[in-house]
Amino acid sequence: MDNLSVEHLIGIKDLTENDIQLIFKTADSFKEIINRPIKKVPSLRDITIANLFFENSTRTRLSFELAQKRLSADVINFSASSSSVKKGETLIDTVNNILSMKVDMVVMRHPNPGAAHFLSTKVKAKIINAGDGTHEHPTQALLDAYSIRERLGDVAGKKVVIVGDILHSRVALSNIYCLQKLGAEVMVCGPTTLIPKYIQDLGVKVEHNLRKALDWCDVANMLRIQLERQDIKYFPSLREYSMQYGLNKEILGSLDKEIVVMHPGPINRGVEITSDVADSKQSIILDQVENGVAVRMAATYLLASKIER
Ligand code: CP
Repeated sequence: MDNLSVEHLIGIKDLTENDIQLIFKTADSFKEIINRPIKKVPSLRDITIANLFFENSTRTRLSFELAQKRLSADVINFSASSSSVKKGETLIDTVNNILSMKVDMVVMRHPNPGAAHFLSTKVKAKIINAGDGTHEHPTQALLDAYSIRERLGDVAGKKVVIVGDILHSRVALSNIYCLQKLGAEVMVCGPTTLIPKYIQDLGVKVEHNLRKALDWCDVANMLRIQLERQDIKYFPSLREYSMQYGLNKEILGSLDKEIVVMHPGPINRGVEITSDVADSKQSIILDQVENGVAVRMAATYLLASKIER
């Protein structure tokens, strides 16, 4: 059987193009299965997976849990806000306690960049990074690229602009790595204060004018302003940000082509995207969520095949 080149899924940076194509091919099979009346396969019977969320999540947490249950894994869920972390327990003590219950794989979201990598060097279980601070969110980038492939037939040769708070976005970094490995051209667009200086070293184009960015692209991925990660003001007001960088029907309708609109969620309607655009036929936002289950089934299944038993 084909297999991944990595032992853990920490970031897209570590994956080869073959890894990504293998995940997509496997996700195609799982997508077909989860659209059947009986949506479950016995592939991961006897595998136990712990979902450890030290940060809030709706899509990623539910999508991983559903993916694991569709594969017949045993699943335990941990949320830091209702755990003994609140009493001062460290990350490594928390995880070692959970692993002593014979857990084979850990899916972890954590506010600190590098937390998933740190864990992978300390424990025997396979680790999947479900978002580590401002660093990477690999399964989000995989489901985003998979959704572009589904809508446009291929990712190679497509022009994708990522708009908004690039500075604080793990989704942006993972998307840049993933899209480039698959042969797409990537541009970032936003206010100067929200575009990190190193970004051009990654081979992406930078544009501060939304209209010019939209004229260039085939796909626009609109990001949320991550106010929870901003300790200073990066722009005068959300209203002004929305006027300059918000995607609305007027600007979309004035383009001489029909671009694909994406958003990783959660959406702040009326800030980075208006409701009529988010809910339009150009939007693939809910396709992204649907594809997230198949892509996470694929990543989980492929990593689980490397567990020593
Ligand atoms: N896209 C994403 O990571 O959403 P959640 O924060 O709800 O998991």
